[in-house]
Amino acid sequence: MTAAGLAGRVVVITGASRGIGAELARAFAGAGAVLCLLARNGEELGKVAADLPVEVATRPCDVADEDQLRRSFADFADRFGRIDSVIANAGIAPASGRAEKLDPVVWRRILEVNLTGTFLTAAAAHPYLRDSRRGRLVLTSSVIAQHPRRGVSAYCASKAGIEGLTRALAADWASDGICVNALAPGFIGAGLGAAFAESPRLSEQVLSRTSLGRFGGASELARAHLFLASDDCSYMTGEVIHVTGGYGLG
Ligand SMILES: NC(=O)c1ccc[n+]([C@@H]2O[C@H](COP(=O)([O-])OP(=O)(O)OC[C@H]3O[C@@H](n4cnc5c(N)ncnc54)[C@H](OP(=O)(O)O)[C@@H]3O)[C@@H](O)[C@H]2O)c1
Repeated sequence: MTAAGLAGRVVVITGASRGIGAELARAFAGAGAVLCLLARNGEELGKVAADLPVEVATRPCDVADEDQLRRSFADFADRFGRIDSVIANAGIAPASGRAEKLDPVVWRRILEVNLTGTFLTAAAAHPYLRDSRRGRLVLTSSVIAQHPRRGVSAYCASKAGIEGLTRALAADWASDGICVNALAPGFIGAGLGAAFAESPRLSEQVLSRTSLGRFGGASELARAHLFLASDDCSYMTGEVIHVTGGYGLG
C-alpha cells in the first residue's frame, strides 16, 4: 500500500493525544500532510504536535459533543481552507465485565463515544469532505467486533456498529465523491493494546490466537491508514480492512 497525494492534504485525526492516534499523526506528518488533531486533553495534543515537522492545528474536543466537533471542523477549515481526509480514531474500552452485570451507564458511555462519537465526527466532516471532491473518511473498528473476548459486550457492539456505519456512510456519500472505509486493528502493542502486551497471561491468550505470533506495531497499522486516506484509495468504499496478524485463523 502506498500513500500517493498525501503531501499538502489536510487530514483530521481524532484521538490523537496518545496511543495509535499519536502514531498516526507522526505517520501522516511523514507523508507531508497538514494535520488537525483532536482529543479531550489539549495539553497532551500539544506535546504530540510539538514534535511534528509539518503545519499542525490542535483542538481539545469530546467527540460525543456535536457542538464541539462542528466548531472544531469549522476552525480547521477556516485555518487551512479545506479538509480532505478524516481519521475517526477516538475510542474507549473501560473495564466492563459480564454483560448481565454491566452498568447501563457504562454501556451508554462506550456507545456514546465509540459509535455515536464516530457518527457525529462523520456528520461534522461531511460538508468539508464533499467540498474537497476527493474526501476520504476512515473509521476505526476492532478485531473484537468479530472475535469478542469475555466481558466486552458494549465495546464489541460499538465496533460492530462501526462496521455497519461504514457501509451505510459509503452508500450515502459515494455521490459526493467520498470514500468511506474502516480499519479493524488486531492487538497492537500501543494504546489500549499495551496492557495486553505487558501482561504475561493476557499476552499468551492473544498470541495463541494470532497467526503471525506477535502484537502489531502502530506504524504497521498506519500504513493502511495512509492508503485509505489517500488518492490511491480511489475504487474502494464501504470496506473493512483487518490488520490483525491473522487473529482467529486457527
Ligand atoms: N490498541 C489496540 O490494540 C486497538 C485494537 C483495536 C482497536 N483499537 C481502536 O483504536 C483506537 C485508538 O485506540 P488506542 O489503543 O490508541 O487507545 P488510547 O491510547 O486509549 O487512545 C485513545 C485516544 O482517544 C481519545 N479519546 C477518548 N475518548 C475521547 C472522547 N470522548 N473525545 C475525544 N477523544 C477521545 C484519547 O484522548 P483523550 O483522553 O485526551 O480524549 C486518546 O487520544 C480506538 O478506537 C480503539 O478502539 C485499538
